[in-house]
Amino acid sequence: AMLDPVPQDLAGRHVLITSGPTHEPIDPVRYIANRSSGKQGHAIAAWMARHGARVTLVSGPVTLADPPGVDVVKVETARQMLAAVEAALPADVAVMAAAVADWRTDGESDRKIKKDGSGKVPVLALTENPDILATIGRHSSARPRLVVGFAAETNDVVDNARGKLERKGADLIVANDVSPETGVMGGDANTVRLVSHDGVTDWPTLSKDEVARRLVAEIARRLAATVG
Ligand code: CTP
Ligand code: CA
Repeated sequence: AMLDPVPQDLAGRHVLITSGPTHEPIDPVRYIANRSSGKQGHAIAAWMARHGARVTLVSGPVTLADPPGVDVVKVETARQMLAAVEAALPADVAVMAAAVADWRTDGESDRKIKKDGSGKVPVLALTENPDILATIGRHSSARPRLVVGFAAETNDVVDNARGKLERKGADLIVANDVSPETGVMGGDANTVRLVSHDGVTDWPTLSKDEVARRLVAEIARRLAATVG
């Protein structure tokens, strides 16, 4: 059967997406990172483009191909990701799907840290990274009309997602249970619930591509429901 054509309901819109992990260098050969394949964020970028949007995808290090029809900005660290996101504003919609490292080392070493043979271990001092979603959600002059975040949780999924919705000034949080038994991390499937000021909607377990397809349709619907 013929596939239904994708509605071009995001034509003329600029959508800003973050995806993948960030890498926070410890020294020239080591880094701190979250686990993230980038599959979900990249799939969202691809579906946004199919709906006619101009898409800027700010991506941390991933092994995925660039989605077709998307402007990709490649970064490594959380601070670079924030700078690239701010440089890409204004946008109508922001979807912050990256797994940003919460902490970076306080002063990376420009030389490789060596074992000295004594068994003594280095102590890493950490400092908190900027919160990109909160910066965008609470932006004073260029807040996108719709700001969407993710909440990867292993427990108390809805309560934690509601907290993030409030704290970060988001309109919608895509909450997912990433406890090890779900197989979400690195896998192709995702079980999400949408948490907004309207309430909570549970979706069945779907492929990450199908989650992206439905999420983009939902975002287009919500955007059309706001003025302009
Ligand atoms: N996020 C971000 N910048 C950060 C940390 C998180 O933009 N420095 C975004 C993520 O892209 C995601 C949302 O915030 O959309 C929630 O990320 P998460 O790691 O679940 O939340 P945190 O606020 O970091 O809380 P915690 O890890 O302690 O649960
Ligand atoms: Ca975090």
